[in-house]
Amino acid sequence: MNPESQFHYRNGALYCESVPAASIADHYGTPCYVYSAAALRERFARIRDAFSRWDALVCFSVKSCSNLSILRLLAQQGSGFDIVSGGELYRALAAGADPAKIVYAGVGKTREEIEYALRENIYFFNVESRAELALISEVAARMGATCRVAIRLNPDVDAGAHEKTTTGKGNTKFGIGASEAALLVQEAADWPGVAVRGIHLHLGSPIYETAPYEAALEKVVALIVRLRERACQIDHVNLGGGYAISYTGGEVIEPSDYARAVSSYLENLDCAVIIEPGRYISGSSALLLTRVIYRKQNDYGKSFLICDAAMNDLLRPTLYDAFHRIWPVQSKDGMPAVIEPGEREIQGFTTELVDVVGPVCETGDYLARQRALPPARRGDALAVFNAGAYGFTMSSNYNSRPRPAEVLVDGSGHRLIRPRQSWADLIEPERTCL
Ligand SMILES: Cc1ncc(COP(=O)(O)O)c(C=O)c1O
Repeated sequence: MNPESQFHYRNGALYCESVPAASIADHYGTPCYVYSAAALRERFARIRDAFSRWDALVCFSVKSCSNLSILRLLAQQGSGFDIVSGGELYRALAAGADPAKIVYAGVGKTREEIEYALRENIYFFNVESRAELALISEVAARMGATCRVAIRLNPDVDAGAHEKTTTGKGNTKFGIGASEAALLVQEAADWPGVAVRGIHLHLGSPIYETAPYEAALEKVVALIVRLRERACQIDHVNLGGGYAISYTGGEVIEPSDYARAVSSYLENLDCAVIIEPGRYISGSSALLLTRVIYRKQNDYGKSFLICDAAMNDLLRPTLYDAFHRIWPVQSKDGMPAVIEPGEREIQGFTTELVDVVGPVCETGDYLARQRALPPARRGDALAVFNAGAYGFTMSSNYNSRPRPAEVLVDGSGHRLIRPRQSWADLIEPERTCL
């Protein structure tokens, strides 16, 4: 079954699995993130199966979507986790993650975070600089531990992602270049507390082609060959994340395409394989429900739908110029299968051109600009699709707006997995200062 079919129109109403989205909006209020448990399970299985030839360890990227119930659901499917902070480690463990399936990236791990991860005996530290490796070595040696390390290679490959989510180019802060990596691994062979066993990559997100993975893997293979010639035992390759989803509803490449493309590189390496998908699993497994508070038309010919979801709830349009399909929850003719950015009319539907904006006091506060939408009235509920990755996790309290609710649907059941914050919640941590 197509995982996206977990969100579908039936008799003019949008459903998440067997639950009408309108009833969720009524019951839990808006704005509200709605996750499909079936979609999460299916998408996890799909990417795991695509890489099953290598029995790859799938480490779900916690930063994409970190609600405890969702991490627990994925842990129950056998998922490991990719973390980038002590907070994410705390979350993953609280959700029941197996520390032996946790890999830890990030350029700024602190001593405290390193100690925590060592105590929990995680699977791999993905190391991003010489200074970090030196600190891990010092801390681990003092604790009498030895940890597995992968060097995050910066291959200087352009993955074609948005500038702000491109991480594999030489001018970014991530990873270590191939020459430095080769020297560091050899040197670190004598350092206590660290066993460098892997090479890690993460090129950016989302990546709509396989070519960047291939270009990067060519460099990984060359590096591993060079290191093995110098008797370094490298037996793990971590391909990172970046696997794309369709934000338009159109075709995009599938996990099996990525797997096919990298197979010739992995073939002769004789390495255990790790992947770190975030968006692929969580992105299309949720939508954000919002309601129109006001309609507004100005003297200058612009029409706005002012909604109760804003940039503090879903930052991606503001931060990355990201495109999300938006459509009314009640729509007698359903929804077009594909909506492309920039479409001013949609065949078969009566639409108007509107900016979908929130109440935040920033011109950059929008969910969509110049978007063709069926005329919506005050109070109508709209769905923002593919909102599960980097949605709630990037939400904030800007403008003292409470964070939205999160709801998990499973078949015909639904439950609140994080309540909407109240105004009291906003000031609660500050009370001790009064
Ligand atoms: C190290 C690392 N791995 C994996 C991911 C997940 O990327 P995606 O959600 O595109 O799969 C990220 C995202 O930034 C990352 O930084």
